Amino acid sequence: MKSIKVGLLGIGTVGAGTFNVLKRNQEEIARRAGRSIEIVMVADLDVARAKEVTGGTCEVVSDGNLVVANPDVDVVIELIGGYGVAKDLVLKAIANGKHIVTANKALLAAHGDEIFKAAQEKSVMVAYEAAVAGGIPIIKALREGLTANRIEWIAGIINGTTNFILSEMRDKGLDFDTVLKEAQRLGYAEADPTFDIEGVDAAHKATLMSAIAFGIPVQFDKAHIEGITKLEAVDIRYAEQLGYRIKLLGIAKRTPKGIELRVHPTLIPSKRLIANVEGPMNAVLVQGDAVGATLYYGKGAGSEPTASAVIADLVDIARLAEAAPEHRVPYLAFQPNAMTDTPILPI
Ligand code: NDP
Ligand code: HSE
Repeated sequence: MKSIKVGLLGIGTVGAGTFNVLKRNQEEIARRAGRSIEIVMVADLDVARAKEVTGGTCEVVSDGNLVVANPDVDVVIELIGGYGVAKDLVLKAIANGKHIVTANKALLAAHGDEIFKAAQEKSVMVAYEAAVAGGIPIIKALREGLTANRIEWIAGIINGTTNFILSEMRDKGLDFDTVLKEAQRLGYAEADPTFDIEGVDAAHKATLMSAIAFGIPVQFDKAHIEGITKLEAVDIRYAEQLGYRIKLLGIAKRTPKGIELRVHPTLIPSKRLIANVEGPMNAVLVQGDAVGATLYYGKGAGSEPTASAVIADLVDIARLAEAAPEHRVPYLAFQPNAMTDTPILPI
């Protein structure tokens, strides 16, 4: 089978990780995908840095429009972030018949239904495993592994930056701003870190999980959101003395009246597994009616952990790109054939 050709938009933290892992594990990945995967074009504002990362192996441009219009490109990976240019380029790529892989939860939480509608019209796939909980395959677990279940609730530590801040403040007595800077240096934080610390990023992710788990449209605007900026070191210390840890949780819960969708700091008894998830690690608990509780744990942010999820999507698309459209169903909607009008409850 001929190789699948990829255009990459943005080669920053996750983009560089994706490039490097694809190169390092090239043979295994090609074997698993059933064909080789080739990055043929990269767009980034910093062309010199992009050329350094790619080392002359592909064309590098500054304008993403050249990538989405390139007739040789089968799949576009969007790793720019944000709602503006990223949305425009993703919609143009779809209009040009390209499949999409993205890690951009902000974009999908705000415009996911529109993007999937456009993709369905062109029968192209949209994959976003990296958008929730970095390297943890939680999208696949919710959409496929737990498909027999009526999901009752999901609760998770789904922002690595804030979990890192809370851990470092508690363990090392460091102040908030110092740890936030370190999270930025390590590539965990969003371009605008207020999204992390104010709980917005976790709400984006909880919104996406609720769409999959409950078959509802994405409704980020209805989420209740509180971040960690009002917490002080003394709160963390007192919680500890009382036998609790404070964690920023994203929660999506089915109730008889509708869905609760909320993000806020939560006191968790120190003995619970989830209370001991530290640093940039993420953990997501899912309660299904048949399976009971399941727990998913791993690195929720960072270059190569996130690249791991991006490439998993790429491999799926490489496998399915030549298949009949009915085989592409998992990638054509948040939860195919399950749309309901269950309301999100005000909190
Ligand atoms: P970075 O800021 O590190 O990378 C983004 C890259 O895109 C930068 O190189 C930037 O260039 C480039 N860029 C910006 N605007 C354009 C444009 N108009 N055209 C072409 N290139 C452009 O971000 P991350 O890699 O951290 O994040 C990428 C996406 O992945 C985001 O959606 C983020 O939310 C998501 N994500 C990130 C994770 C992480 O751990 N970092 C984990 C999971 C998801 P320049 O630097 O010159 O502005
Ligand atoms: N800024 C995000 C976090 C990146 O800290 O979790 C992963 O989505």
